Amino acid sequence: MSKADFDRSAEDVGNILQLEHVNLTVPDQGIAALFYVTGLGFTRDPYIDFGTRNMWVNLGAQQFHLPKADPQLFRGHISVVVPDLDDLKKRLDFITKPMAGSKFAWTEQADHLALRCPWGNDIRAYAPGRFSRMPLGMPEVTVTVPAATSAGICRFYQQVMRCPASHSGGITRVKVGYNQELVFAEGDQVSGYDGHHIAVYVADFSGPHSWLQERQLISEESDQHQYRFVSIVDPDSGEVLTELEHEVRSMSHAMANRPLVNRNPAVNFFTYQKGNEIFTPGERV
Ligand SMILES: [Fe+2]
Repeated sequence: MSKADFDRSAEDVGNILQLEHVNLTVPDQGIAALFYVTGLGFTRDPYIDFGTRNMWVNLGAQQFHLPKADPQLFRGHISVVVPDLDDLKKRLDFITKPMAGSKFAWTEQADHLALRCPWGNDIRAYAPGRFSRMPLGMPEVTVTVPAATSAGICRFYQQVMRCPASHSGGITRVKVGYNQELVFAEGDQVSGYDGHHIAVYVADFSGPHSWLQERQLISEESDQHQYRFVSIVDPDSGEVLTELEHEVRSMSHAMANRPLVNRNPAVNFFTYQKGNEIFTPGERV
């Protein structure tokens, strides 16, 4: 390959630099820990929200935030990458008995394990390699949206959030940073919105804010470094297309690029050796 053949545009990123967390309330922190930490193998954040009212669970550079309240259901599914699917299957077998009576379930699909969390959330676990440059983490979330809304949603992310986005066959894909996507897929049935949220970090913080503020779409002025909006609108018509609370954070937010502790999920009492407890990506994926 000559230098002229490098695809320089493949390296471009848009205004949303990272999708950091999905916030889903859960009614029972013990059951949540059993699913997300013991089962999925992710790491409970040791520094913040480690009591019994809330729990942050780290997976690579992303997190689930799980405050205690009635369960929320993500409208769509959340994709995660785990280091080894065979190891994950063993851990899921291990938690099956104590999960009895909950909605927990899992099935093996062609290229992933389809999991249902104890309260019904759809989480899909992939091995490294399916998503580029993500050995552990949350490469995409897929939001189910009403029919005939995905084109307008694409315009919203292109024009308001200033992200590369594409639209085809009822699906909009929004590029997030260098290794994530926010996906909106039209579906037949969309349940009511229950207030779950996502958190994103943006380079241009004031541009989207001005646009949203002019239209009275800012739902919360949290502080200097964060605001929230809920409605995703067609910038052409102003029509509300769907709802998903976005916690929009600037790059000077205290949590931006915080190094997250990640353990090696394959380590347990029997496999432990000094030094193997920290997750280290084994290969470039
Ligand atoms: Fe949040």
